[in-house]
This record gives sequence, structure tokens and C-alpha cells, in this order.
Amino acid sequence: MRAVIVPAAGERPALAELSTPALGAGQVLIRVHAAALNPMDNVLASGGLAEAMEHRYPLVLGRDVSGVVEAVGDGVTDVTIGAEVIGHLGFEAPFQAGTLAEYVAVAAASVAVKPPSLGHTAAAALPLAGGAALAALDAAGVQSGQTVLINGASGGVGRYAVQLAARRGATVVATGTSASAHRLRELGADAVVDYTAGPVAEQVRRLYPNGVDVLVNLWGNTVNDVPLDAVRPGGRVSTITSVPDADTTAALGLGGGGITIASPDRDVIATLAQTAASGKLRSDLSQVIPLDEAVEGLDQIAAGKSHGKVVVTLA
Ligand SMILES: NC(=O)c1ccc[n+]([C@@H]2O[C@H](COP(=O)([O-])OP(=O)(O)OC[C@H]3O[C@@H](n4cnc5c(N)ncnc54)[C@H](OP(=O)(O)O)[C@@H]3O)[C@@H](O)[C@H]2O)c1
Repeated sequence: MRAVIVPAAGERPALAELSTPALGAGQVLIRVHAAALNPMDNVLASGGLAEAMEHRYPLVLGRDVSGVVEAVGDGVTDVTIGAEVIGHLGFEAPFQAGTLAEYVAVAAASVAVKPPSLGHTAAAALPLAGGAALAALDAAGVQSGQTVLINGASGGVGRYAVQLAARRGATVVATGTSASAHRLRELGADAVVDYTAGPVAEQVRRLYPNGVDVLVNLWGNTVNDVPLDAVRPGGRVSTITSVPDADTTAALGLGGGGITIASPDRDVIATLAQTAASGKLRSDLSQVIPLDEAVEGLDQIAAGKSHGKVVVTLA
């Protein structure tokens, strides 16, 4: 089968021929119709986690999939051959399997039935990005009546987070540039702050002098990247990037804090898929590309030029 692999540690990703993955107990073999790209793929490709967690090569990239079940492993009784499904490869070592391939074996517990009205391309975008959006909103306790700043709102996770926060009845302030402002408003943002036009926190304070109730942080690798000054005293913060840590938020008298790691299992994927199928959550894709352009797509993400969610289609 064709797959996008990291051939060996430190090597650049490439399209290659591999044998179809062996099917383990508790797994299902999925013929991939669509697979999403995520920043996580570049982290794995660069060996950014290799010291902490085992990587095995050739390592296939890709975490999210939508496709059709070709075979089920021993002990799988709740997923049937021929079913259209959405799946996710969890944050577990050893890393070797990936969804940027014609076939992938995924734990049945991380597979949900795809609603018929949801296309494979939109479905494949959901698990990690949608799951992270959901987890970040839950970690911050986002609810109706709050004013919520979403930093990194124009990215793959952010576009889901904006919609989900607006659906909860929050007033949503989204970061983006003039290129994404209109789209973010269509997705549910009440205000868009241009992160290229000056410090985000200062711009937010001009709109909300007392500060926002909640900051959902989806962008940045240093604490200075995070507009903590936009949050009112006693407000809450959640983050899915490496900053801020819990000590930093606590020292500022803010609630929440600590990094949220998304682990979309069957229930989370099914919830996202049902919400999307009912028209209440859109996979707002910036690009749909074939497998032989996936490496280029990953390069664009690494360079900060993807401007939203990128999905690879195979069928
Ligand atoms: N913890 C977890 O479980 C988890 C899960 C998924 C992702 N993540 C992490 O969460 C982050 C976001 O993921 P993603 O998939 O949404 O990535 P992404 O699609 O690459 O989105 C990042 C977005 O950040 C925006 N951005 C760039 N500079 C900015 C700035 N100065 N201020 C505010 N926004 C800025 C970009 O907007 P433009 O469109 O304007 O360029 C881009 O769209 C990544 O670091 C990823 O590794 C963590």
C-alpha cells in the first residue's frame, strides 16, 4: 500500500510502498478514504517526542481517519465489516502506525460509526482537532453568558472551538488576521482581534475593559505568546499548547491552568460526528489534497501557512 512515512529517525517524510498493516486483537482494519493532517504529525516526524516515547520506523504519519472497515480483529464485536467509520490513533507509544496510508489498523475503542450524511473528508478532520477543541472548552468550563477569548482561533482546532463555544451561548472573541476574520464571524465569533495588529491582550481590553471571563489558548510556545492580561481577575484559562503551565496561571490568580491533552475515544468521536451530521458543527477545511501532496501539506503546517485544517483524500 502507499503511505506517507518517516523512513528512519531524522529522515524527511516521503511517500513509499509498505505492506498492509497486520491486524491485532481488538483492532479494526480501515480502508482509508480521508485522513487529516495535524501539527502532531510534524512533531512525530521531527522526533520531538522520541526521547520520551518509543518510535518505530518506518513510522507512518497521520492520526485521524475516515474510511470503511475491511476486517476486524479477535474480540471485536461492536464494529462490523463494511461499516463506514471515523477513527483516531491515540497518543500512545510505540508510534509506528499512521492514517496517511491506504490501510490502517485502529483500536476498535477509538472508532465510531460515521453518520451517512457526513462525508469522509469532513469526518476525517474531526477527531484530534475537534476533540482538542472540546477538551479545551471543557477544561475551562466554557458556558453560556461568558465572554471567551480563543487564541489561535483561525487554525484547525480553533475553527471548531469557535463554533462549539458559540453553540454553548458564550460571547466569542477570536484571534485571526483580516484574511480569516469574515470566516471566523460566520463560524460564530462576535469579535475578531487581529494578532498582527498589536498585542492581543491590549486589543481585547479595548473591547472588554474588565477583561474576558475565559481564555482558551490554542497557539504559542512561550508564555509571552499567550494573552493572559486579557483575562479578568479570577477568570479561567485552558491551553492545549505547552504554555502556560498551572503555576503561571495560579500565580496570576487565574483558575484552570495546566495543559489539556485530547484523547478522542469512540464516545468523543461519535459526539463530534453527530453534532456535525446535525449541521451544528462544520469542518471548515482550508485544503483537500491527494496523498502524494501530503508531505507538502505537512511542510505548510510547519511553516504556519496552512491557515486552517488540511485533509488528505485517498479514495
Ligand atoms: N494538546 C492537544 O491535545 C493538542 C491537540 C491538537 C493540537 N494541539 C496543538 O494545538 C496547536 C494548534 O493546533 P492546530 O491544529 O489548530 O494548528 P494550526 O491549524 O496550524 O493552527 C494554528 C493557527 O495559529 C494561528 N496563529 C499564528 N500566529 C498566531 C498568533 N501570533 N496569535 C494567534 N494565532 C496565531 C494561525 O493562524 P493563521 O491562519 O492566521 O496563519 C494558525 O491558523 C498546535 O500547537 C498543536 O500542536 C494540541
